[in-house]
Order: sequence, then structure tokens, then C-alpha cells
Amino acid sequence: MNQYAVFGHPVAHSRSPWIHARFAAQFGFEQSYQAIDVPPETFEQILWDFGEAGGLGANVTLPLKEQAATLCDELSEAAQRARAVNTLIRLPGLRWRGDNTDGIGLVADFQRLGIELVGRRIVILGAGGATRGILGPLLAQGPREIVIANRTPERALQLALESGALGTVQAWALDELQALEAADVLVNATSAWRGEGMALAFGLVDAGTIAYDLSYGATAQPFLAQARQAGTAEVHDGLGMLVEQAAESFRHWRGVRPQTAPVLAELRTLVGH
Ligand code: ATR
Repeated sequence: MNQYAVFGHPVAHSRSPWIHARFAAQFGFEQSYQAIDVPPETFEQILWDFGEAGGLGANVTLPLKEQAATLCDELSEAAQRARAVNTLIRLPGLRWRGDNTDGIGLVADFQRLGIELVGRRIVILGAGGATRGILGPLLAQGPREIVIANRTPERALQLALESGALGTVQAWALDELQALEAADVLVNATSAWRGEGMALAFGLVDAGTIAYDLSYGATAQPFLAQARQAGTAEVHDGLGMLVEQAAESFRHWRGVRPQTAPVLAELRTLVGH
């Protein structure tokens, strides 16, 4: 049987085994897809063992995405830009190709939602690994401007410089955002709203702003609730992105892209938000 897996630490909460089982069923494929908890210090060995046992592909989640990039024999352009890998694709001879489907997954979800990015002004809160993963694919959609706002502005500036599109991509400090006009699309890529005391800068949101949180479930709710209170009519969590990035991984492994809408609808009832 074809073997796939998701590696993470912890990983028991992962929805990926469920999602990939639904995708495989659409085509009548028989496969196994396991969630494997991997402490970072054992990742290299476990990946080797997985390959030797016939593993054909894997997803990688926190905190292993950056390490996965160092374990690959080749990287896609998206993975090189992100410096992180969420999809491992088996090559001949126990070698691995790494890709990053997070950004393309987000763009696919925007398309599903009918959110046009050409000529729009996008504000991304956060300048960590998540922002690094989505920046290139968002830029490729032709927005007028992408503002990266971060508590530590140097990290935002670093990403803006690396994007190769300084000017279109701008770096701001999170506490300077009062000075900005409202975003067309506001993306939360921080873990900040999980804690207490975060407040959306007044003026960053108006009735036309679309707010999107990369996380899903209860984690996404505090940010989305604040965006609603600030006047946003349209808010979305990242559950669609989760399913779309998984579909891209599946396509790499199987050469066919599954239908995402029915899987997302079913997952939404399970997640309950
Ligand atoms: P990820 O891979 O999920 O992006 P990360 O690289 O640790 O994780 O980045 C977390 C992001 O959330 C960063 O942008 C971080 O800001 P700093 O670069 O200043 O650390 C942001 N973040 C986390 N907690 C925050 C808080 N309480 N207030 C503001 N920003 C916060």
C-alpha cells in the first residue's frame, strides 16, 4: 500500500490524515497516511526510516518545516523562498524533494472565496515563518501593495528586502499602524491574538476590509471578532487554506487534484466554527 505521513511535534491534533483519507476516497486510491510525532532531534533518522520502509510522501508541520528544508536533496522555488518545507516528495534513491504549498493554498482559498488580489492593498500582521511562506505567492497575484507589520520591525524589513519587490512590499512596526489607511485585505499571520491585550489598530479596518486569519477553529476567533467589531463585513479563518494546501500536496504525490469544496464543508462541521 502507498504510504504517506504527516510529521510534527505535537501532531495528534492534525487534521491531515482525515483530509487525505477523503481525497484518496474520491479516486478510489488505497493508501495509508499516518500522523507521526517527531521530536526535532530524531527527524533526520525517522525520515530516513520512513523512506526505507517505502514512504512516498509526507507533510511537515510545526516545528519541523525549516528543518525539513535542510534535509531535502532538492527544493522547489516556493520552498527556497519560504526556507521551509511542508510537503516532501519522494525521489528515486531515497532522496526527497521539498515544496511549500502554504502560499499557493492561501491563494487558492482566496480564489474560492472570490477575493480578488490584483491591484489591492494587503496588510499582513506578523513577519515569522508563516508570512515568509505566503509572501511570494501573494506577490505573484499582482497586488498594489503588501504591507508587513510586525512587533519587531527589523524582521518585517528583512522579509521586504528578501522579496525583491521593496516598494510594493513595505515594512512597518505594529505600533505604527495608526498611521495607515484601511487595508483591502488584512491577514493575521501572528500568534499574538491567542494571548491577552492585543488590539487592532483603529483605522486599519473599514467596512470594505476583508479579514483573514491563517489559523482556524477557536484560535482564529479573537482576531476575527475584533475585525468584526472594527467594522469589517467579511471575515474568514484559514480552514480553507488548510484543505487547499493539502490538495496541492496530494496533487504532487498522485498527479491529480482532488475536489476541495466537499471536504472543506465536512471539515467545517467537525471543527464547529
Ligand atoms: P510562525 O512560523 O507561526 O510565523 P514565528 O516565526 O515564531 O511563527 O512568528 C510569530 C509571529 O507572531 C511573529 O511575527 C511575532 O512577532 P515578533 O517577530 O516581533 O516576535 C508575532 N507575535 C507573537 N506574539 C506576539 C505578540 N504578543 N504581539 C505581537 N506580535 C506577536
